[in-house]
Amino acid sequence: ENPYIIVVGSSNLDFYSYVEKHPKIRETIEGKELITGFGGKGANQAVMMSNLGGKVEMITRVGDDIFGDQIKSNYESFGVLTSSLIKTEKTPTGIALVSVNSNGQNRIVIHSGANGRLCKEDVEKCEEKFKQAKAVVTQLETPVEAALSAMKLGRKYNAITILNPAPAYHDLPSELFQNSDIVCPNETEAEIITGQHIETIEDATNAGKIILEMGAKNVVVTLGSKGCVWVTSSFSRYVPTQVVKVVDSTGSGDAFVGSFTYSLAIGNPILESLQFAVKVATMSVTKKGTQMSFPKKSELDGLI
Ligand code: RIB
Ligand code: NA
Repeated sequence: ENPYIIVVGSSNLDFYSYVEKHPKIRETIEGKELITGFGGKGANQAVMMSNLGGKVEMITRVGDDIFGDQIKSNYESFGVLTSSLIKTEKTPTGIALVSVNSNGQNRIVIHSGANGRLCKEDVEKCEEKFKQAKAVVTQLETPVEAALSAMKLGRKYNAITILNPAPAYHDLPSELFQNSDIVCPNETEAEIITGQHIETIEDATNAGKIILEMGAKNVVVTLGSKGCVWVTSSFSRYVPTQVVKVVDSTGSGDAFVGSFTYSLAIGNPILESLQFAVKVATMSVTKKGTQMSFPKKSELDGLI
C-alpha cells in the first residue's frame, strides 16, 4: 500500500522567528529564537505524505542558489521523488519569513522566487507520470496555470484531485474548481474566495456552499482548533478536533491536506480521512516548525 501521489507546488526555505507578541507597526522587538527549516505548502504536504508511506513525486522549481540544492537533499532525505524538481537559472529560491507568537499563531511573508516560474509546460511535460497517480494535490503558492494543469491532468487519468487554494485569491477561474474533486481552504481562504465573513461553523458551511456553486464537488473548510467542515450539494458534516496546547500552528494546514490526501489515496472514504487528518494536524501544532513537527507513521500506530 504505497500509493503514488503527485504534488504540484512550492518549495521554500523558511526562517522562523519566535516572539512573545508580534510587533506593531513602527515597533522593534527582540525575538526569542530563530530557526531555519524547509517549507513551502507543496513541499510540506509532500513530506507529510511521504512520512505516511506515500511514493510522492514533487513537481516544483527551486532557484540556482545553495538553498535550491539544500531543498533537493531535504526531499531526498524524506524519500520524496525529485526527478521533476527544476533548477531555475538566475532566480532565487522561494523564501518564507514566519513569525510565531507565544500562542503559536503565525504571520507569514513569502517571496516566491523560483516558485513563481512554475508553468503549465512544466506540469504537462510530466503527463506520463499522471497515468500512475492515485491522487494529485496542488496549492496556490505557484501560478494558477500550473495548478490548473495539475487538476486537469489528474482528472484526465482518474486520479483524485485535491486543490488547497492557499494563499487564496478572489477571482479564481471556475475551471480550477470544476477539475478538483475536493477543494480544501482554511477559513481565511474561504473568506477571500467567497467574500463572506466566517465566524461560526454555520458560516463556514455557507461559504462551502458558495464554493460548490463555483464548480467544486466537495469542499472542506478547515477551522484551526475547531476542526473542519465537509460540504457537498446534499449534506454537510462537521468534524471536531481535540484541544491541545498550541506551540506552533505553522504548517498544520499542510499536515492536514497531506494526511487527508494520503488517506484518500489508499482508498479510505472522505469522512474517515478527515477524522484522521484532524488528528495528524493537531499533533503537528504541539511542535515547532512545519516538516520537523509532522508525525511519522510509527507515531500514528492504529490511526491508519
Ligand atoms: O503553510 C506553511 C508554509 O507556508 C511554510 O512552510 C512557508 O513556507 C509558507 O509557504
Ligand atoms: Na508545527
